[in-house]
Amino acid sequence: MNTDLSHFLDCEMNWCAEIINARFEQYFSAEDDPKKQISIENITMPEISSENSPYSTIVKKYALGFDERLLLTLALLPHLRPQALDVFFLNNGNLGRPYTEFGGWKGKSHSGFLPTCETALFLLAGENLGRRLEVMRLFDMDSTLLKEHLVALEYGEAGEPVNSAALRIPSETLEYLSTGLRNMPDYSMHFPAKHITTELKWDDLVLSGDVMDDVSQVTAWIEHSEKILDDWGLRKNVKPGYRVLFYGPPGTGKTLTATLIGAHTGMDVYRIDLAQVISKYIGETEKNLSGIFDQAERHKWILFFDEADSLFGTRTQASNANDRAANQEIAYLLQRIEDFPGVVILASNLKSNIDDAFSRRFQSSIYFPMPEPSERFRLWTNIFQKKEMLASDVNFLELADKYELAGGALINVARFAVIRAVREGRCVVNRSDIEMAVTKEFRKEGKMA
Ligand SMILES: Nc1ncnc2c1ncn2[C@@H]1O[C@H](COP(=O)(O)OP(=O)(O)OP(=O)(O)O)[C@@H](O)[C@H]1O
Ligand SMILES: [Mg+2]
Repeated sequence: MNTDLSHFLDCEMNWCAEIINARFEQYFSAEDDPKKQISIENITMPEISSENSPYSTIVKKYALGFDERLLLTLALLPHLRPQALDVFFLNNGNLGRPYTEFGGWKGKSHSGFLPTCETALFLLAGENLGRRLEVMRLFDMDSTLLKEHLVALEYGEAGEPVNSAALRIPSETLEYLSTGLRNMPDYSMHFPAKHITTELKWDDLVLSGDVMDDVSQVTAWIEHSEKILDDWGLRKNVKPGYRVLFYGPPGTGKTLTATLIGAHTGMDVYRIDLAQVISKYIGETEKNLSGIFDQAERHKWILFFDEADSLFGTRTQASNANDRAANQEIAYLLQRIEDFPGVVILASNLKSNIDDAFSRRFQSSIYFPMPEPSERFRLWTNIFQKKEMLASDVNFLELADKYELAGGALINVARFAVIRAVREGRCVVNRSDIEMAVTKEFRKEGKMA
């Protein structure tokens, strides 16, 4: 697989280098007779039919043509063969400055030439305006390369010619083309979402029968929605999207349940912290989140909006520009959430904030209450699975009955109690470690033990 992979990329880059050469020769040759000039289109593309590398898979899957393949390879060159672009550093002797028609932009640490749309236009169209207009269509948002995130454009200042946009290759695509692997995108400024996973299993989830039943309704939808929509003939009236609200006190398992629903149904769950997104990216939310919605739709992710209260709270009277911007972003988000054809889970601590208009947009809304004593007993025993590490004075039945603590708080208690035992050089946790930890946890929550 690996040799295949580099072999084909190599051929494709050789082809691109040949085109660069030919274009330069043509552009700077004294030959005026177009018939005697090399035609770029006649430089044949590497044959892909017998290939099965990631690159050829993409070419076949999206039926990429000559121009598209050149654009994709050009975007790849700075990563895989940067020196192939050095010819573009040629200076215009008459003017003592770079050639405008080569385009290009300068990186901060990378010393080589970085291509822009103009660079691709120079290679594919030269001075032919008709061809230029044709090639420019590749830079439309709905062209295959952009829509499928095979290449990305990064626009500079407003008002500058659009073809000065940097031609980039999204890290997701680069990763796939150069390794054959599809990695998960990482949290960043431009991607304010995080892939969440858990070591816990479905059996570790402690919920009352009613809540579990509501949760199973969601997993049933995920597993059978196609059948429900088609076999039962509901597609005309029912949208494929499913929006669920999880609400309830902190630490009752909302995030855990969202993560487990993903694991259980084989879907990736991406968590978006809304409070953070809205405050940090004022004016940028739309740009950053639209990428997430698009990718989520393509890869069938479950979107988990944490701290969703900020979605419902802010629609009050907007008194300043910032408030208005935030309101606009919220309106955008609500619309995207409503249009999303997959599963969206929103989590919040307060239901009172959520107005009726919004409630109606949920397919279900599930309350995660504080656990009852019997559930707390299961949580205690799940957390301390190594029974040999518990002193004989620890009685979970009694602790579960006495202290009203949610799963999240119990994890804190366990951690504190174990640290105390370790610091005292013991390898068992005793009742006083736990009692002490509970008191601390209650104090943190502003309650008395
Ligand atoms: N119902 C539960 N069953 C099993 N474990 C739980 C449960 N609730 C909480 N826990 C434990 O507590 C941890 C924290 O819970 P989680 O983050 O899911 O709470 P949350 O409801 O999302 O809280 P918050 O409202 O603060 O976001 C979980 O990772 C898990 O270890
Ligand atoms: Mg949570």
